[in-house]
Amino acid sequence: MKIDENTTPLLTVDHLKQYFKVSGSFTVKAVEDVSFKIYPGETYGLVGESGSGKSTIGRSIIRLYDPTAGEIQFNGLDISGKMSKSDSQTLRTQMQMIFQDPMASLNPRKKVEDIIGEGLDIHHKCKNKEERDEMVKAILAKVGLAPEHATRYPHQFSGGQRQRIGIARALIMNPKLIIADECISALDVSIQAQVVNLMKDIQQETGTAYLFIAHDLSMVKYISDRIGVLHLGHLLETGTTDEIFENPIHPYTKSLLSAIPTPNPIVEKTRSAESYDYATSGIDYTLGTEHHVGGTHYVKCTDEEFAKWNV
Ligand SMILES: Nc1ncnc2c1ncn2[C@@H]1O[C@H](COP(=O)(O)OP(=O)(O)OP(=O)(O)O)[C@@H](O)[C@H]1O
Ligand SMILES: [Mg+2]
Repeated sequence: MKIDENTTPLLTVDHLKQYFKVSGSFTVKAVEDVSFKIYPGETYGLVGESGSGKSTIGRSIIRLYDPTAGEIQFNGLDISGKMSKSDSQTLRTQMQMIFQDPMASLNPRKKVEDIIGEGLDIHHKCKNKEERDEMVKAILAKVGLAPEHATRYPHQFSGGQRQRIGIARALIMNPKLIIADECISALDVSIQAQVVNLMKDIQQETGTAYLFIAHDLSMVKYISDRIGVLHLGHLLETGTTDEIFENPIHPYTKSLLSAIPTPNPIVEKTRSAESYDYATSGIDYTLGTEHHVGGTHYVKCTDEEFAKWNV
C-alpha cells in the first residue's frame, strides 16, 4: 500500500513515555519518547527484542495503562489524557486487540458465539438475538470457520483456529485499528502464513489498519507497509518496509537484518550475523535527532553518529 503523507493519520503517537514505578526508588522506563503514525488502512510493524517495550506501547495506546507523558491521537480524538465516557466508548469499539496466546485470552467456559458476540452485547450493537446470530455467523465465515463452530468451546479448536476466533472477536466491532500483539508467534510456521494471509485479506476488504507487533523482522516484512524498530524503549528507526530492508541505517537494525536466515544455501553459507551491543556501541539514545532520508525513514541519533553509520 502506498502511503500518502498528506492523509490524516488514524493514529498519532507523539513523544509517548510509559514508566512503571516498581518500588519506592525504582522506576522501569518501559517506553521512552516514542513517536510514530499509523495511516488509515495500513499495517505498521513494530519489532524489537523481548523487553523492548512493544506490548507496553500497544497497551498504552488502547489505554490499558495511563501514559506517563506524551500525546496519543486516534481518529481525531485525544486519547492520552482523561477521556469522556463517549470518547472511551469510541475507543473501546474502534480499536481492538488480538493477543499472542488465544487459549489464555479466550474464556474457556464460554461458547465461541458468546466470546465473539461479547463486544456486541457490551455496546448494545444488536436489536435482538437473531441479528446477533447473523453477525456472528457472518464473521465466522469471514475468518474461515463454519457456522457449527459457534456453539463449541475454545478447547475444541486447534491453535490456528483459536487465533481465528480471536480475530473474529476483534473484527466484529468493525474497528479502524487492530493491535495484534505477537498474534502469530505461538503458531506453527505453516499456520502463521495462513493467519497472516487472512489478516491481509480482511484488511483489503474492511480497510482496517494494523499495529502488528513481532519479535523479528522476517515476520513483519510480509505484512507491513512501514516498520518501526524498538530497542530498550526507544524507537530507533522507522521507514517503509523497503527502506528498512534495503537501506537500514541504525546498527541495531542492521544486526536484526543480519540475523535473518536466507533460503539460498550459497548465500546462507556466507551469511555473517552482525552483533550489536548497546553497552559498547557508545550510542546515547537520549540524544535523539530525527533524520529524514527519502521520505519517512528516520533514525534517532546525533549528527556524528548518523554520519558514521550511514556509509
Ligand atoms: N506492568 C508493568 N510493571 C512493571 N514493569 C513492566 C510492566 N509491564 C512491562 N514492564 C517492563 O517494561 C519493559 C517492556 O516490557 P514489554 O512487555 O512491553 O516488552 P515486549 O517488547 O512486549 O517484550 P516481549 O517480546 O517479551 O513480549 C520490560 O522491562 C518489562 O519488564
Ligand atoms: Mg510483548
